[in-house]
Amino acid sequence: MILIILDGKKTAETLMKKIAADVAAIGEDITLALIMVGNNPASQVYVRNKIKACDEVGIKVREFFLDEKIPQKELLRIIAECNDDPSVNGILVQLPLPSHLSESEIINAIDPQKDVDGLTIVNQGKLMAGADAIAPATPKGVITLLQKYFVEIAGKNAVVVGRSKLVGKPAALLLLQKNATVTIAHSKTANLRDVTKRADILVVAVGKPNFITADMVKKDAVVVDVGINKVEGKIVGDVDFAAVKEVASYITPVPKGVGPMTIVSLLENILLCHKKQVATRETA
Ligand SMILES: NC(=O)c1ccc[n+]([C@@H]2O[C@H](COP(=O)([O-])OP(=O)(O)OC[C@H]3O[C@@H](n4cnc5c(N)ncnc54)[C@H](OP(=O)(O)O)[C@@H]3O)[C@@H](O)[C@H]2O)c1
Repeated sequence: MILIILDGKKTAETLMKKIAADVAAIGEDITLALIMVGNNPASQVYVRNKIKACDEVGIKVREFFLDEKIPQKELLRIIAECNDDPSVNGILVQLPLPSHLSESEIINAIDPQKDVDGLTIVNQGKLMAGADAIAPATPKGVITLLQKYFVEIAGKNAVVVGRSKLVGKPAALLLLQKNATVTIAHSKTANLRDVTKRADILVVAVGKPNFITADMVKKDAVVVDVGINKVEGKIVGDVDFAAVKEVASYITPVPKGVGPMTIVSLLENILLCHKKQVATRETA
């Protein structure tokens, strides 16, 4: 079988054009409230990229760059204001938050209809129930990428390595929704190699460079590498790309794989939030 690179960058560029056209067709301002607390350098890069992507498609961003020491109460007040403001369509709180803040209380203060990261308990629950959830951007981007390359998901053995709220668990649920037979592996999984070796579709979100080696991958598997790790100043994934590409039939590169798809899915989620708000407005 020939190897196909799942090109997230190219796919995202095409989708960005569609989103820009959708924003223009809506004919009213779409606004994201972007909240960042403190100066975490990695967060600053992510936030810059999100603002740039919003700019590119014509989504407005209201920036709340807040002091590292902001009290919980004050942050909750800002979120409540954004919830009540009909001109704000989506709210994003960049994580991680400083340790004096309760992440779960802050996230769950966001109106679920404005929860562009899909991290409130309401959206997590809806995803679990197979209802109309706003799904977290990274796993949503993974599914979109697979679909754009016509990768068959139904009936396949999918193994997700990692069980975080942000990536692993929602990725598993979305694959299940698409009728894959899903296994979730994590740090306590026994004989991980035996588990990964059964995967027709292997999604890896661990956060350890070159963690998945060629001997852990089934021949002709589809391999999706979510990991972003910095090694000697270079960004690498969780998969030993050079070796695994000799075994896989499809593989994502890092960078230019899942990363750009995450950004695009975030933009899609902002539009989805807007759509839900319009529907609520019309039925009120
Ligand atoms: N491309 C993107 O846009 C994007 C977006 C988000 C995250 N990421 C990247 O994706 C990676 C994962 O992110 P995350 O937020 O999901 O990380 P996380 O919250 O740290 O979760 C890591 C998961 O990996 C599991 N794990 C750790 N060591 C393992 C081992 N030896 N064997 C099997 N499983 C193991 C952990 O298991 P336990 O639960 O048992 O501890 C945990 O479930 C990171 O590199 C992150 O930077 C990329």
